[in-house]
Amino acid sequence: MLIAQISDTHILAPDSDHAAAQSRADGLRRCVADINRQHPDAVIFTGDTVQHGDPDEYARLRALLAPLEAPLYLIPGNRDDKAVLRTAFADKSYLPGAGDFLHYTVEGHDVRLVALDSTLSGERQGVFCPARIAWLDAVLSAQPNRPTLLFIHHPPFDIDDHYIGGYGESADAAALTDVVSRHAQVARLLCGHVHCLVERDWAGTKASVMPSIAVDVRRSGGGTEAHDDPLYMLHRVSEGAGVASQAMRVVAD
Ligand SMILES: [Fe+2]
Repeated sequence: MLIAQISDTHILAPDSDHAAAQSRADGLRRCVADINRQHPDAVIFTGDTVQHGDPDEYARLRALLAPLEAPLYLIPGNRDDKAVLRTAFADKSYLPGAGDFLHYTVEGHDVRLVALDSTLSGERQGVFCPARIAWLDAVLSAQPNRPTLLFIHHPPFDIDDHYIGGYGESADAAALTDVVSRHAQVARLLCGHVHCLVERDWAGTKASVMPSIAVDVRRSGGGTEAHDDPLYMLHRVSEGAGVASQAMRVVAD
């Protein structure tokens, strides 16, 4: 199974006076065109889809994503407004119509997809409260033998002193690690949020954090618009061979 991943596009409204409003839209448009050329079985979008959570931004986002040929699975990031996102993507039947959390499972593919909502309105940091962890434990317990990809906007661990998640002493993040450690079918955790490529061992599996189309964050400090060659990820999941991930740089229009 081939899965494409997009993250942290921070799309702005067409009438925004932000200098990057057009380049971010162009970056996503080019990624969508290139993803179609790869013919993935599914596309996952790990949050921070828009910049402010405004309906105009979601309308533009929808138009940019409309050409995607594979099924699209979205989760919110801290920049998203869950109510507005839910309305803008009301046709996505996997999104719960009510409740505090936009998390879900996708059962129709060779690999099971589990999306965990780590966002809380007004909070930049990821939240891994007992209710979310109990939900994850229940859905993973329900199908212990199906290879599973877990995706969450926020990496649930500290990365380095340039980007610190603040989870080092967090009991909630430790509880999440404990739950995933007990479910060996989790083949990979896929995240966004930090706008850089990070891979690490985590909870008995591997975690992959992908860069952003919109803003590149480097250890030298700060962020720069990095839209000339937008990036997305391809994850190929094969039986017995695990997950092979490739960063795809879209160099030509
Ligand atoms: Fe984020």
